[in-house]
Amino acid sequence: MSVITHIEDLRVLAQKRVPRMFYDYVDSGSWTEGTYRANAADFDRIKLRQRVAVNIEHRSTRTTMVGIDVAMPVAIAPTGMTGMQRADGEILAAKAAEKFGIPFTLPTMSICSIEDIAAATSRPFWFQLYVMRDRDFMARLIDRAKAARCSALVLTLDLQIIGQRHKDLRNGLSVPPKLSLRNLADMARKPRWCLGMLGTKRRNFGNVFGHVKGIETMRSLAEWTNKQFDPRLSWADIEWIRKRWGGKLILKGIQDAEDAQLAVASGADALIVSNHGGRQLDGAPSSIAALPAIAEAVGRKIEVHMDGGIRSGQDVLKARALGAKGVYIGRSMLYGLGAMGEAGVTRALQIIHRELDLTMAFCGHTDVEKIDAGVVRV
Ligand code: GLV
Repeated sequence: MSVITHIEDLRVLAQKRVPRMFYDYVDSGSWTEGTYRANAADFDRIKLRQRVAVNIEHRSTRTTMVGIDVAMPVAIAPTGMTGMQRADGEILAAKAAEKFGIPFTLPTMSICSIEDIAAATSRPFWFQLYVMRDRDFMARLIDRAKAARCSALVLTLDLQIIGQRHKDLRNGLSVPPKLSLRNLADMARKPRWCLGMLGTKRRNFGNVFGHVKGIETMRSLAEWTNKQFDPRLSWADIEWIRKRWGGKLILKGIQDAEDAQLAVASGADALIVSNHGGRQLDGAPSSIAALPAIAEAVGRKIEVHMDGGIRSGQDVLKARALGAKGVYIGRSMLYGLGAMGEAGVTRALQIIHRELDLTMAFCGHTDVEKIDAGVVRV
């Protein structure tokens, strides 16, 4: 195997090792995928200011996100079906994040359950929640996250309906995968993945199965999404959730300064500037393009985070410079996981950390806390 030097190496390896249906689920956006591509491409357009003859010997990437110490301003994003990229994927990623000293966010639509992650880790993780029609189920999920000592709740606001993803439709994405001839032929070329899946009992949506009446045979994520996710979601629901949860609350999916102001008024601790990885409203601006206006609109009234397009430590630095206190990585983590399991997630984190540290130094900074708009060229 060739040497892994950047996130793209992990992506290439993941593509070889993960069945196409699940690889495509990650490496895709909705409709034309224009927003998905812009998320990464707009980072590349931002240029950095190099400084010289500054003492950069002692450097630190440590900071906080919603008051929690982090080894670098990066958290693992909640990504659906992570346990289909690799057997027990959420457990592996949570362990890698814990060892690295950054938060792991478990999504509602995970394969491993809240209780699985709590049993496999010793530090609190974060939990992501969708607003669903079944409010009792939601309330129970919140209580389960509390019982597992989750230290923040990430509430997703941009998935009341699902953006059409052409690859998923073509591939007939389902969990567990349908054993069609095409899928079997594809899986036969991915023996590592098959062995892992045969060796685990976790092959379904762990937070849902056994916890919702009438959902014994759920196969398609889109089917579940369309039926369960609540198109009536309003700020009053957010108030109800905030009260029931009672801990740190992060609102995910903000793209507009007016919504950002409403997020401030809701009493949440942080908002995430996000277009759901380009998987929802195609045609929306990239997250890095939307970030400055939102950061400017809310000032210091709420912590601003962002996700979408982070493929390097340089991207982390650029997001910090344009107003994000922290960022989330989804695909960069998933490529590592699909390529090499827990070691691959660790490798992704090491790559991003090293790039962040060195780029900061080239820009004449020693402390990630002090990065500001001055590091980017306008
Ligand atoms: C779910 O959140 C997805 O983007 O597939």
